[in-house]
Amino acid sequence: MLEQPLTLPCGAVLSNRLAKAAMTEGLADASGVATPALTRLYGLWSDGGAGLLLSGNIQIDRDHLERVGNVIVDAEPTPSVSDALRALAEAATRNGNHFWGQISHGGRQTPKAVNAQPKAASPVQLGLPGGQFGVPVAMTSADIDEVIAGFARCARVLKESGFTGVQVHAAHGYLLSSFLSPRANQRTDQWGGSLENRARLLLAVVAAVRSAVGADFPVAVKLNSADFQRGGFEFSESLQVAQWLEAASVDLIEISGGTYEQPRLLNLDGIEPIEEQTVKASTRAREAYFVDFAQAMRAQVNIPLMVTGGLRRRDAMEDALATSSADVIGLGRPLCVTTNGAQQLLSGGTELPRYEDTLSLLPAWLKWLERFKLVRSVAGFATQYWYYEQIALLGETGEAQPALSVLGATKAQMAREKKLLAARKTIR
Ligand SMILES: Cc1cc2nc3c(=O)[nH]c(=O)nc-3n(C[C@H](O)[C@H](O)[C@H](O)COP(=O)(O)O)c2cc1C
Repeated sequence: MLEQPLTLPCGAVLSNRLAKAAMTEGLADASGVATPALTRLYGLWSDGGAGLLLSGNIQIDRDHLERVGNVIVDAEPTPSVSDALRALAEAATRNGNHFWGQISHGGRQTPKAVNAQPKAASPVQLGLPGGQFGVPVAMTSADIDEVIAGFARCARVLKESGFTGVQVHAAHGYLLSSFLSPRANQRTDQWGGSLENRARLLLAVVAAVRSAVGADFPVAVKLNSADFQRGGFEFSESLQVAQWLEAASVDLIEISGGTYEQPRLLNLDGIEPIEEQTVKASTRAREAYFVDFAQAMRAQVNIPLMVTGGLRRRDAMEDALATSSADVIGLGRPLCVTTNGAQQLLSGGTELPRYEDTLSLLPAWLKWLERFKLVRSVAGFATQYWYYEQIALLGETGEAQPALSVLGATKAQMAREKKLLAARKTIR
């Protein structure tokens, strides 16, 4: 089933059911311009066989990044910015696959090093230790209008640059996702309170994006099944939002979940307890942690669904497709080293590598520390650096280095970040 094409509501056709999920690359320069390393990376992924590649976060506002090194499209592009985007899109589509830009605004998850007072729904700071995130400032209605226009402009510029679709990032706690959450969004105007009000920004963004790119261009949304936090966005609400998105002519919903405070997207533990959601658990053992949510969502909406998170075995992917739980399978971490993972599955491979099972920040003799929730959580976050560094190495050298330690990767990433932050200061 993996090799079957899929026609989207807008008429575009994906050549198979495998997608490279969005993964932040950190490979733009300090001004957010795509570099040759980023272009090389997407060439490798295009060669890798997936019918769809999603870019990492492309930001609509340079003061609200997910991290330095994000691509930024927050103005009409200069000729050199435009050339860089075109080169990226050309490499990323060189095998006839789709390449969609994931467009986003960091909101309150913007790191302090980028912006100590990011704009967000309400002044509710992230509940994470370490002082990495500032107290946000509530957006005015003019700020909100700017966000809507910013998403639309970014989508149009990407289309003009050769991207073949866009995905609005409304998951994982960034701005649009935080507006959906009653915990992060405590507004009392038309943008907060009832679900209808909390979803208003996402729906306004989708409408503006659709009108900027036209009816025949793929517009997708990445949506949390739930935040998995007490008082957060719940699954019953996600089902309703999905129906609204279908009515708003969205072509595909990618189902994920969690936030920085509760990183369920990576199946990692947060510091606070997980708020379990009511969803009918499948009787089959499943490695994919959002498939049951996708199956329940399928009963409510008819548009294509993509499910991402934990899928490694081909039979689990085929099962998700055969039971109509999902129409597209998202692949993340395995492709940070095994760039042709999709091709392997399409030509009969049974399973992708599970790097997450063996990576650890802590040497064996300190493993006992993982009994402590905070340590477990920090160690889990550190493994992200390993993936970031593999992505950077792929872009810069064409080769990953799977033998690299988590500590080595963490140090290398911190050095890269320091350099980008220093360069960012000089250009502002
Ligand atoms: C290195 C890395 C970077 C990521 N960056 C993004 C991102 O920019 N946008 C996004 O929506 N999800 C991001 N994610 C989440 C992935 O898209 C995906 O949901 C997650 O990795 C689970 O899929 P997997 O189990 O196949 O890795 C990232 C994950 C990883 C590992």
